[in-house]
Amino acid sequence: MIRVGVIGYGYWGPNLVRNFAEAPGSQVVAVSDLRPDRLTPARSRYPAIEVTTDYRDLLADTRIDAIAIATPVSTHLELALQALQAGKHVLVEKPLTTTSEQAIRLIEEANRRNRVLMVDHTFVYTGAVRKIRELVASNGLGDIYYYDSVRVNLGLFQHDVNVIWDLAVHDLSIMDYLLPSRPCAVSATGISHVAGEPENIAYLTLFFDGCLIAHVHVNWLAPVKVRRTLIGGSRKMIVYDDLEPSEKVKVYDKGITVNNDADSVYQMLIGYRTGDMWAPQLDMTEALQTEVLHFIHCVEEGARPITDGAAGLRVVRILEAATQSMTERGRLVELDMARVTA
Ligand SMILES: NC(=O)c1ccc[n+]([C@@H]2O[C@H](COP(=O)([O-])OP(=O)(O)OC[C@H]3O[C@@H](n4cnc5c(N)ncnc54)[C@H](O)[C@@H]3O)[C@@H](O)[C@H]2O)c1
Repeated sequence: MIRVGVIGYGYWGPNLVRNFAEAPGSQVVAVSDLRPDRLTPARSRYPAIEVTTDYRDLLADTRIDAIAIATPVSTHLELALQALQAGKHVLVEKPLTTTSEQAIRLIEEANRRNRVLMVDHTFVYTGAVRKIRELVASNGLGDIYYYDSVRVNLGLFQHDVNVIWDLAVHDLSIMDYLLPSRPCAVSATGISHVAGEPENIAYLTLFFDGCLIAHVHVNWLAPVKVRRTLIGGSRKMIVYDDLEPSEKVKVYDKGITVNNDADSVYQMLIGYRTGDMWAPQLDMTEALQTEVLHFIHCVEEGARPITDGAAGLRVVRILEAATQSMTERGRLVELDMARVTA
């Protein structure tokens, strides 16, 4: 039985508490939030769980094996570092840290102390993304040509991070898990429509070696919610709509064939292939449930999480480079992902 303490009981923290409380193999011992008014609902929903405004109570509690951190990203480094130094395993919300140097510090600390460091890249644990990965890994789509995502809605405007750090982080973590290669450069543009606030709309283009390209469009100022991703392959193409209640993933047997006819060298013929569409059966388990079970497994077995510190670092590195590019109106920023991953 893994005994867990959760720091941060704002919007996302209650989801972590619920999933750890319900998972076989874990038990929530205590919850901390700076704001006493946030602790009131925690206390009434979980009378057996201790609550405190001082997270250090959790770090000093010898019954607690692992700490889950659901506080604003600017606090992740300090809280995660102290938790690791107190000998706890750590699950940190996305994005792992605000800089890649901070992420490296956490990875090194976790390695030194032989503790699990995992980042909550939630989408990686959805049935939809796991199914798409299966299709990509089995070469079901052929060569991957593009990943093209729209992730927009109205709100919640964040004050401490721009829209890339809030929404594009999901696509970057999905790509990190799905795609056969890592991006080598990024260009991003974006703007703020509220004076003094971070950018609320942004467009990212990621370049890879070869003919793979990715585009991510994120926006907090859209009239409707859209969560739609196209993944194009040489054999098949996918439409992944996370807002669809059941058939979230649709696989289209569509594409082109290029005919290089020797007799007509001046006329390259593009043929269009339109076959069937099918919607694979998906595991509909809540992603966080799958994720906390994976975290518990990693703590118990000393295994490396799928979304380990290195995955968190790779995503933070792209977020940093994209933000830098955005301040320079889309200048292409090279990514040395091999160095980051080493
Ligand atoms: N995985 C997901 O899909 C997902 C969704 C939403 C948010 N998040 C992430 O969760 C994290 C928190 O986001 P949120 O929307 O819940 O923010 P929030 O502001 O609603 O909640 C954060 C809570 O942390 C508390 N807090 C801050 N510093 C603290 C400290 N030192 N000790 C104890 N409590 C402290 C605050 O009082 C607040 O109640 C962010 O990293 C965010 O990116 C992840």
